[in-house]
Amino acid sequence: MKIIRTKTYEEMSHEAAKILAAQIVLKPNAVLGLATGSSPIGLYDQLIEWNKQGELDFSQIRSINLDEYCGLDGTNDQSYRYFMDTHLFDHVNIDKQNTNVPNGKAADYAAEGARYDALIEQMGGIDIQLLGIGPNGHIGFNEPDEFFTKETHVVDLDPSTIEANARFFASADDVPRQAVTMGMGGIMGAKKILLIASGASKKEILEKALFGPITPEVPASLLQLHPDVTVVCAVD
Ligand code: GLP
Repeated sequence: MKIIRTKTYEEMSHEAAKILAAQIVLKPNAVLGLATGSSPIGLYDQLIEWNKQGELDFSQIRSINLDEYCGLDGTNDQSYRYFMDTHLFDHVNIDKQNTNVPNGKAADYAAEGARYDALIEQMGGIDIQLLGIGPNGHIGFNEPDEFFTKETHVVDLDPSTIEANARFFASADDVPRQAVTMGMGGIMGAKKILLIASGASKKEILEKALFGPITPEVPASLLQLHPDVTVVCAVD
């Protein structure tokens, strides 16, 4: 595991963007595993800037996102599809047909999970998976539990996650109670992992995840078993 400590959110975003950009340059049709939340916004802004400057070409890039709230479709401004469109896809030359987010409105979530896992396989696997970390150690929406779930599945969101994400909604009552998330198998199957974290509030959970016992109570701790993880953090 490689850990890059930076001083500010801007520096973290810049360092992490360089790693994603390197992947895009090395493999123009790479499969990028993408994430939402406030952590990757600066990184996406940097990628947009390099794209506008003609430095980075997304025309053949394929992407697969980690998760989506149940019950929200892409027109809902709180959906993760909407987030990805507005924070990245609408501003770069990516073909939207090549971008994937789980369907939050699927009639059958088990079938949606199976479709999503098959899709990852058809795409040839994820070349680099970008991750944030939740305050309780979740990655994607893999919440603390007694076991790790391998497949893409529906989760009941942890009260701490609902509280943490309430800032994006009118109130905590408006936060969906469930989400579809890529499982730990999909994440761990990525060839490279890029984990970003910023803010003093993430310091303790990040240390637990990276150096504590590997346990489903801290889902991100499983990353210790992945052979190619880079962490870029600004948590001091
Ligand atoms: C959300 C997302 C995660 C994200 C996490 C941290 O719940 N499902 O993928 O990593 O929150 O978000 P933030 O970056 O806003 O702290």
